[in-house]
Amino acid sequence: MVIEKLTETVGFLKSRIKNKPRIGVILGSGLGHFVQHMQIEVALPFGDIPNFIPPTVEGHSGNLIFGKIEGIDLVVLQGRLHYYEGHSMETVVFPARVMALLGIEILVVTNSAGGYGDGMKAGDFMIIEDHINLMGNNPLMGPNIKELGPRFPDMTQAYDPELIETAERIFRSQKTFFHKGIYVGVTGPTYETPSEIKMFKAIGGKAVGMSTVPEVIAANHFGLRVAAISCITNLAAGVSEKKLTHDEVTETAKKVEQKFCAFLTEFVTKI
Ligand code: HPA
Repeated sequence: MVIEKLTETVGFLKSRIKNKPRIGVILGSGLGHFVQHMQIEVALPFGDIPNFIPPTVEGHSGNLIFGKIEGIDLVVLQGRLHYYEGHSMETVVFPARVMALLGIEILVVTNSAGGYGDGMKAGDFMIIEDHINLMGNNPLMGPNIKELGPRFPDMTQAYDPELIETAERIFRSQKTFFHKGIYVGVTGPTYETPSEIKMFKAIGGKAVGMSTVPEVIAANHFGLRVAAISCITNLAAGVSEKKLTHDEVTETAKKVEQKFCAFLTEFVTKI
């Protein structure tokens, strides 16, 4: 039973931390250096946490980190599980649910994504305004766990409008160019075909990625406020002639990591 596993994990973590975290952060591929900006209090490899599963993807280290930035208590997931790794949706959202049960009020999700919005370039950022779930699954399938939220959660403001405004303000003040738009969530692990990207553009998307949607659904189920930022690590298939590689994704993420960390460190202190 998920709820029993969650209770065990949350009990284990609570016995190791002094303060309740207010904000949870999920760091995407190649964006893990954010934790160097924190005063780290407790860092636990996924393998040391009951019911956590170590990630298998390169560029995802797999640590749960508790600490502060300017006095604000954070819990940070450095590395995440993806559906394409073969995990169930329930397993993919387990860490987000643990953060929710630890008492966070806000979940900040980051990811790397392929861009196909007008004017996008590799290295740009996109504030996610909404998503389209094309993963063919949903983490809330199956009997509802009422301790975690209602049977039919509302998703009208899945991405909190006030948090979107704050993110815009910070990007502007830091003179960092950004987009706002819809993220299309797919399973991967193949990158898309050019025709799929044309379809995503036709239905209103600007970015595509293989994560985020499950965690954002689980967080909304729980009633958390959610913000999400994509790092456009590459132009999506067919937008550029180039073949896509995971190396390009991690290299771009590394290049923009400093700007990304500057944004995120300010963002967590202003929300
Ligand atoms: N497609 C899907 N997921 C991604 C991409 C992409 O082009 N880039 C980074 N994650």
